Amino acid sequence: MKTARIFISSLVVVVSSFAAYAQQGMKETVGQYCLIGSSLNQRQSDGLDAAASAIVRTHFNTAVAENCMKSGPLQPEEGRFDFRAADNFVDYCEQNGLKAIGHCLVWHSQAPGWFFKDKDGQQVTREELIKRIKAHIHTVVGRYKGRIHGWDVVNEAIEDNGTFRKSPFYNIIGEEFIDIAFQAAHEADPDAELYYNDYSMSQKGKRETTCKLVKHLKEKGLRIDGVGMQSHNGLDYPNVDEYEKSLLAFADCGVKVMITELDFNVLPNPKGFGGAAVEQNFDYQKKYNPYTNGLPKDKAKELNERIFEFFKIYYRHRDKISRINLWGISDANSWLNGWPVPGRTNYPLLFDRDYKAKPVVEDIIKLYSK
Ligand code: XIL
Repeated sequence: MKTARIFISSLVVVVSSFAAYAQQGMKETVGQYCLIGSSLNQRQSDGLDAAASAIVRTHFNTAVAENCMKSGPLQPEEGRFDFRAADNFVDYCEQNGLKAIGHCLVWHSQAPGWFFKDKDGQQVTREELIKRIKAHIHTVVGRYKGRIHGWDVVNEAIEDNGTFRKSPFYNIIGEEFIDIAFQAAHEADPDAELYYNDYSMSQKGKRETTCKLVKHLKEKGLRIDGVGMQSHNGLDYPNVDEYEKSLLAFADCGVKVMITELDFNVLPNPKGFGGAAVEQNFDYQKKYNPYTNGLPKDKAKELNERIFEFFKIYYRHRDKISRINLWGISDANSWLNGWPVPGRTNYPLLFDRDYKAKPVVEDIIKLYSK
């Protein structure tokens, strides 16, 4: 009788503590230490994806526009800005209690073609390109002054080996384009946080040059608040020790670390694939798309453990991390279904194709409830 009573009361404790976790979202638990959020595609920031909005309201307190704040969509022709989608994104964030992050001001990819050409189709002069960068940043950052928590000012300017990427910005202006961009962003919204963001941050070369860049900007008296580690991860990359080393190295340079585009590619990758350069693409082959009918149990378990491994790192260094952002809400919306191989069925995020939380969400909530 006594044993039965003890058994029942322990059962009640277990069930009720489970219920307490189940009611809590990541924003109450992870959110005690840092911002937690996702990128939103345009349908989502237009408020047309009710299932996504339900997840957003339960779990997230920050968001990033997946595409609509990039320079191509925002300024398709010189001086002609299209702010419709970006305005909706910022409104959506305000209506849903999300700190809005601006992504991104200066990036070689998804920049409009005209940006680097003069009216005769020749390469634009250094002086003119600087003018265009400043005009773009002043207009965009100025429009949302006071409404954007922080901006990815420069995205992906450094190669894995630590040299600067030979982008048109670099080729035409030199390294100084980065200073110019940070300065312009600060002028346009002195209260906004400013970030440098890149992928493959576990690479030694990138780590070292990113640290040098942070120190350089600070020495010049320019504002930089954080470094974003995109974290487009896989099951067997990056090396977690190197990744953690970079996280600590960035924190040591006196900036906050942000995990900005977290996802986990679970599919077999073509030879030669690496990093997250959006220009990479490979032809479709069936062998690259093995799980069209669902992820096998062992893979799902492996994925769960892999995601949790990263969150354990984030928890360990929670005093250094100001934001954790997933690159998409549900597996159905992930860019990894179409990149680097088109037409695949990938499983990279915390919520499945039915917008149901994967078991790791509960693990993360428990971890951060300690
Ligand atoms: C991706 C988007 O998710 C895709 O929809 C788009 O087609 C290409 O860009 N690094 C970045 C993001 O900084 O802006 C990229 O987003 C993914 C890699």
